[in-house]
Amino acid sequence: MNLAGYEVSDTIELPEKHDYGIGIIGCGGIVNYAHLPAYRSRGLNVVACYDQDPDAARRTADEHGIPHVATSVDELLNRDDIAILDVAVTPWAQMEIAERAIAAGKHLLCQKPFSDSIESAERVVELAAEAGIKIAVNQQMRWDAGIRVAKQLVEQGAIGTPADARIEVSVKTPWHMWPWIAAQDHLEVMFHSIHYHDALRYLFGDPSSVTAFHHKWPNQPEVGETRTLTVFEYDQRDLQTIIDCNHHNWSDDFYARFRFLGDGGIITGTLGVLYDYPTGRVDTLEYQPNHEPRAWHKAELSTWWIPDAFVGPMASLMEAIQTGGEPITAARDNLGTLRTCFAAYESATQKRTVTIPRPEVP
Ligand SMILES: NC(=O)c1ccc[n+]([C@@H]2O[C@H](COP(=O)([O-])OP(=O)(O)OC[C@H]3O[C@@H](n4cnc5c(N)ncnc54)[C@H](O)[C@@H]3O)[C@@H](O)[C@H]2O)c1
Repeated sequence: MNLAGYEVSDTIELPEKHDYGIGIIGCGGIVNYAHLPAYRSRGLNVVACYDQDPDAARRTADEHGIPHVATSVDELLNRDDIAILDVAVTPWAQMEIAERAIAAGKHLLCQKPFSDSIESAERVVELAAEAGIKIAVNQQMRWDAGIRVAKQLVEQGAIGTPADARIEVSVKTPWHMWPWIAAQDHLEVMFHSIHYHDALRYLFGDPSSVTAFHHKWPNQPEVGETRTLTVFEYDQRDLQTIIDCNHHNWSDDFYARFRFLGDGGIITGTLGVLYDYPTGRVDTLEYQPNHEPRAWHKAELSTWWIPDAFVGPMASLMEAIQTGGEPITAARDNLGTLRTCFAAYESATQKRTVTIPRPEVP
């Protein structure tokens, strides 16, 4: 579509070869309401699934027509018809599964957060590189319609020099859907805002420092932080980006919006999925060039964060396997996102601005 002279699109292309056999590990909520509906809508080839809870695996296979239910991870690792393992378990179980998959020669799509420690994440990234294994992380917000079109606009220079970027979310999040996440000390940033950290890195590059504030809501049942304010600064650039989240807004005045302002234009929009998670609605995006004050160009968006965007990381992983390149959300790139998250916790705990270590260049 043409938006004020810029060519943009929210459709997600599959690479030429996309019939790789996929084995699922972890058959919980996100696999059932996002991964599998997305893959089915695009005809991807899921051949088997496994969960430590056999009933969850059986239910998932029945509901989504998966031909085989495995009784162990090893069974998936030993199957020649599986090229890609799609892992959606807890982050601490994910690293051990990833190491075994790499040793067995399987490519990986891992869930976010990729790991709960930077050391284990770095180790898995190095093991994969040595073995020639591709790992993508499921930071599928990069394919969410609003962010995808915003990225295309920013790349084409539509907002000029970016100066002030914000993602503002004030919603009532159903944390009860994930009792084990609600029990974490590190909650909001690690399991939710990590998408915004990653999206801002995708749009504007790596920040150099972070100042963060973390709070709870009065008498909240969750253990970790549910209200966060994160401010990123960037070396040598007049750019400041902000993530402002509250997950306990009980009122009907709720919002989930983004606003990217540069000297040449502004992009504003909403993140549809958060208006009624996980059903949601389609995103909105409007663009105003600086030279056309009060003219708002509206994008006609058609793809949804859940499930459509979930095709993106898998498609990108398949593309990387066949071209020898790197997935857009490669695990090595994701180390940068993990570093911003860990630095935000350090900042909030120590009540100071924290310098973010630079991701290593391979
Ligand atoms: N990308 C996203 O937008 C998104 C959204 C929601 C959840 N997630 C992530 O996906 C992961 C799973 O979340 P969920 O919402 O599906 O949780 P869930 O609790 O609904 O399901 C997790 C499933 O994994 C299984 N499991 C746990 N450890 C296992 C192991 N070692 N081996 C095999 N199976 C195991 C459990 O039995 C359960 O069925 C989490 O890391 C979460 O952060 C990502």
